[in-house]
Amino acid sequence: MTQLPPAPARAFASDNAAGAHPAIIDAVIAANEGHALAYGADDHTRECEARFRDLFGADVTTRLTYNGTGANIVALATGLGSLPGPHHAVVCTEWAHIAVDETGAPERTLATKLLELPAPDAKLVPEQLAELGRLQGVQHHVQPGIVSITQATELGTLYSADEIAALCDTAHGMGMLVHLDGARIANAVAAFGGTRAALRSFTIDAGVDVVSFGGTKNGLLGAEAVIFLDQPSSTGSEYVRKQVTQLPSKMRYLAAQFNAALEDDLWIRLAAHSNSMATELHRLTSALPGVELDEKPPVNSLFPRLPAAVIEPLRDWCFFWDWDTSRNQVRWMTAWDTTPDDVAAFAEGVAALVA
Ligand SMILES: Cc1ncc(COP(=O)(O)O)c(C=O)c1O
Repeated sequence: MTQLPPAPARAFASDNAAGAHPAIIDAVIAANEGHALAYGADDHTRECEARFRDLFGADVTTRLTYNGTGANIVALATGLGSLPGPHHAVVCTEWAHIAVDETGAPERTLATKLLELPAPDAKLVPEQLAELGRLQGVQHHVQPGIVSITQATELGTLYSADEIAALCDTAHGMGMLVHLDGARIANAVAAFGGTRAALRSFTIDAGVDVVSFGGTKNGLLGAEAVIFLDQPSSTGSEYVRKQVTQLPSKMRYLAAQFNAALEDDLWIRLAAHSNSMATELHRLTSALPGVELDEKPPVNSLFPRLPAAVIEPLRDWCFFWDWDTSRNQVRWMTAWDTTPDDVAAFAEGVAALVA
């Protein structure tokens, strides 16, 4: 039996598994004072809307939601509703969370078809959109209506701002809208230098129409924001949000979380830390015998291939998820609260088991 050191205090299962940052909890407690009008007619929500306008440097419309799946549905349902006719489809990659991990919520609630395109790195290219031109104007086919991309992607890869701009140009040229699933948008912003300019470069400046802006995976208790980047794209979104059951009556608690996260760019600092912990984990494990890892991770997830016999004992000691069992590939994910000690202890355990 291999002797393992004490397990890390925090496992490497998911950024979703982390708790909320104390500043977020404090903000929720502060927002708990007294009565506030419901459904967003409160000062915290007004402040949150103003903060997002400031963040994007434009008159964006913010709709807070309970979760990421709901944010995607609000964004897509509003977009589809703005297109002429009910025959439009959502184009995404085969890895897209909306296609793989939302239990068919988009198909069920939007009564739409998802066109899932192959993408080994979970990224679409303009040529794939252009190719869908063959469907346009043919009555036997759904019409491509919205392209949904994810940033950072489900495989932990990143689109450059130029790549997103090129996708937006092609999509708009074909009469399509562009949705960006940003459940991990903070990790992408941190990876691109951690500035507001970086955020704007691959969203509003690139031509994206609507963003699902994640919070829950980055230290919030539970809140996401749908950001419509121009006024026309937001038309009807307040009704759609209610129809798809994502209108929080006690909106102040969600708004307070984002207000704390956006204060002094805490959201970027948390994601930058999470990313740096993944980089450190890569540094400590990538040279170990039997551990097959790609290049340094762009954001906060690693997808190593491990000797088969190592996976179960390692997981029993410190939990993480499988990724592709046919290749003995697993996923290690860091979070805003992962510490250097957690990483060092985990790497020690990996080293002991592969030895
Ligand atoms: C890329 C992406 N989008 C959306 C979601 C949905 O988030 P939720 O679980 O809050 O519905 C997730 C959650 O894992 C995700 O990874």
